[in-house]
Amino acid sequence: MTGFSESMLKSATRNKSKVVLALDLSGPYDRRLGRAEEVLEATKHGIAAVKLNQHLLLPFGLQGLQGIIGLSRKEGLPLIADLKINDIESTNLNIVNSLFDFGFSAVIANPFVGREEGLGKVVERVHSLGGGILFLVYMSHKGAEEGYALRLEGGEPLYRVFAERARDWKADGVVVSAKSADKIAETRKIVGKDCLIFSPGIGAQGGDAKMGASSGADFLIVGRSITESADPGKALRDLRIQ
Ligand code: XMP
Repeated sequence: MTGFSESMLKSATRNKSKVVLALDLSGPYDRRLGRAEEVLEATKHGIAAVKLNQHLLLPFGLQGLQGIIGLSRKEGLPLIADLKINDIESTNLNIVNSLFDFGFSAVIANPFVGREEGLGKVVERVHSLGGGILFLVYMSHKGAEEGYALRLEGGEPLYRVFAERARDWKADGVVVSAKSADKIAETRKIVGKDCLIFSPGIGAQGGDAKMGASSGADFLIVGRSITESADPGKALRDLRIQ
């Protein structure tokens, strides 16, 4: 198990939580950052990690997010960048260098891009920096089936190939929809127990928290049902995901 995975399990145990808070804020830009800090303050003792996506990264950039990054680090919460990186190696390496320079702990990548001049050296770089990398295996939206479930010649679906890549290229974790318990089980068989499974799709995307918790995923990624609540701390507690 890698340093990133150990830090995930440590914070999950400390805060008795399997929730990765997707700190996704919409609405007016001048209030977005303040609201993000409020949500993080209200939930920081009941989550295992924080995931940032373009909702904050795009308008504020890494320099503008130092407050959120600093608060997460101070609380011992691993910080995941949901950039689904999917470019050529030199660009991917540049992205990863910036993320880790600014205090991120892990990044999500799309294994579709391939290993040679794609993600191979990126995995090495992330690990040399003490961080983690999570591969997309099966996404949580309806159209995921149109891509991730495509069958290759021979009949193997793409998501199984992505799970095999996660295992063979030594990703620290995978992202598999919480709404697809069968795919979580299949993925677990391929990647083994040391590769953590992160599952989005609970709440706003229709997945049920109980189902997600019993699906075999190690962590559940939850965004809008917490971030859009008038009382984010209560919304988190109401999910009852431990
Ligand atoms: P909600 O509001 O739907 O937020 O709880 C979910 C968060 O997770 C992202 N997301 C995914 N990220 N693979 C990923 O790497 C996925 O399959 C996936 N589905 C949702 C979403 O963008 C949001 O940040």
